[in-house]
Amino acid sequence: MEIKFIENVNKKVKPEASTLGFGKFFTDHMAQITWSQEKGWHNPRIVPFENLSIHPASTVLHYGAEIFEGLKAYRRKDGGVQLFRPMENIKRLNASAERLCLPTINEDLALELLTEFVKVEQAWTPYQEGTSLYLRPFLFGNDETLGVHSVHNAELIIIASPVGSYYKEGINPVKIMIEDEDVRAVRGGTGFAKCGGNYAASTRAGKRAEDKGYAQVLWLDGVERKYIEEVGAMNVMFKINGTIVTPMLSGSILPGITRKSCIEVLKSKGFKVEERLLSIDELKNAMASGALEEAFGCGTAAVVSPIGELCYQGVKYEVGGGKIGEVTQMLYDTLTGIQWGKVEDTFGWTYKI
Ligand code: PLP
Ligand code: COI
Repeated sequence: MEIKFIENVNKKVKPEASTLGFGKFFTDHMAQITWSQEKGWHNPRIVPFENLSIHPASTVLHYGAEIFEGLKAYRRKDGGVQLFRPMENIKRLNASAERLCLPTINEDLALELLTEFVKVEQAWTPYQEGTSLYLRPFLFGNDETLGVHSVHNAELIIIASPVGSYYKEGINPVKIMIEDEDVRAVRGGTGFAKCGGNYAASTRAGKRAEDKGYAQVLWLDGVERKYIEEVGAMNVMFKINGTIVTPMLSGSILPGITRKSCIEVLKSKGFKVEERLLSIDELKNAMASGALEEAFGCGTAAVVSPIGELCYQGVKYEVGGGKIGEVTQMLYDTLTGIQWGKVEDTFGWTYKI
């Protein structure tokens, strides 16, 4: 399908790398493709970044028919730009779409739109260490009716934002609060899908944690509030007595691409990795006995983020002496090395633009 290009003649001034933060600045263009039940996906286009105009009854505004993805374009040390496992994001977008009865998209078409867009915006990929161009595809139902049905019209849009680190702590350990009141998702619900509603449901607990000085919450399962699930914007891993333990994909947590990549790196280096149920009691015991050696989160925005303190029911547990652990550092170095093209990609994960 031919992608139409309308150039933005009013280019913005690019921000200083030191002011980036996360998701505050946006590039000059956005990519868009429209879907209708009659025509399927049509009219792929890259157009000037601008406000959207949608009908006040649009499905997304009332019933939350929205899913999204997050991936990054990295500036290689040879000056080129590359993506990290983009097909994984496209496959997950389609898995989310199926769960929310939104239209799925041909994987090759989605990859073509994404890569053409990154080509147009590649000058926005910052050069400074630790920075990247965050890409945010999102897909929403756009019927002009208040009836609750599967949608007949939808839009897929990709926007891009030059970013620095997600947490103000950067690679320094973050403090995480274990939430025992609100729940994020239940099996059979939408926990495994990357839909906006999951984040809306998470905000109250996240705010309570932030008000107490914690970066994010660690969720427990929605039924028994007993098993560890994931953090607000990342999956979570623990090193307990030398073994890496991470919650299994039970349907209520996001199947993170960074999580999958960490597991593959760990296994390739001979670490024992267990994907299984991990109860809060087991974690509490491991924290109290010193068996918990490291804890870290992993995600596209957060990269690999050491956890230096966990708080559960008012009791604070320091993890790893509040410092980044060896395995956490190794994963950070390996993944960021591959992503920024500084170390050889023996896994075949990078996709040059
Ligand atoms: N879990 C949640 C709730 C997230 O928002 C994210 C971020 O995308 C992740 C996990 C990590 O997923 P990924 O590594 O694919 O970015
Ligand atoms: C990502 O890591 O890409 C995410 O989507 C996290 C986000 C909610 C900030």
